[in-house]
Amino acid sequence: MTMTKIIASLALASFALSASAVLAADETGESLYAKKCATCHGLTGQGQPAARPTVQPPIPPLAGSGYLQDDPDRTATLILHGKAGMPAFHLFLSDEQISKILTYARGAWGNQASPISPEVVADARKKLGDDGFKMPSN
Ligand code: HEC
Repeated sequence: MTMTKIIASLALASFALSASAVLAADETGESLYAKKCATCHGLTGQGQPAARPTVQPPIPPLAGSGYLQDDPDRTATLILHGKAGMPAFHLFLSDEQISKILTYARGAWGNQASPISPEVVADARKKLGDDGFKMPSN
C-alpha cells in the first residue's frame, strides 16, 4: 500500500466513524443542539451580541427569544431555510432531528414554549419546495 492509499483509507475510516456518530440512536435535542447550534448561539442560548462584530446581524440569544417561542411553523421554516448569517439546515437535519432540537431549545434556559412535532417540520419543509428556498415572507 502506498502512503497516499493509507492516508485515504484512514480518512475514509474516520469519516465513517463520524457519520455513525451523527446517526447515533440516542441523540437528544440537547446533544444535537450542542453540535449544530451552540457554536453560534451558545451552550446556554446566550447568543453572541458583541463577540463577533464582523457578523451582521449579531447572533441573537435563544434564551428568552420571542421568535423561537412563537409560531412553530415559522421557527421550523427558519431552521430549514436559514436567514442572513444563519445557515440553512434542510440538507443536514431530518424532521425528527429539527423537532428534537426545537423542542429542547423551546424548553431550555427559562424558555417555556410547547414542543414542536416532526410533522410540523415536515409540513414546513413541504411548503419550502424541493430546493428548500421558497421563503415565505416573515
Ligand atoms: C453560523 C452561525 C449560526 C448557527 C450554526 C445557527 N444559527 Fe441561528 N441564527 C444565527 C444568526 C446570525 C441569526 C439572526 C438571523 C437574522 O435575524 O437575520 C440566527 C437566528 C436564529 C433564530 C431566531 C432568533 C431570534 O430571536 O430572532 C433562531 C430561533 C435560531 N437562530 C435557531 C438556531 C438553531 C436551532 C440552530 C441549530 C440547528 C441555529 N440557529 C444555528 C446564526 C446561527
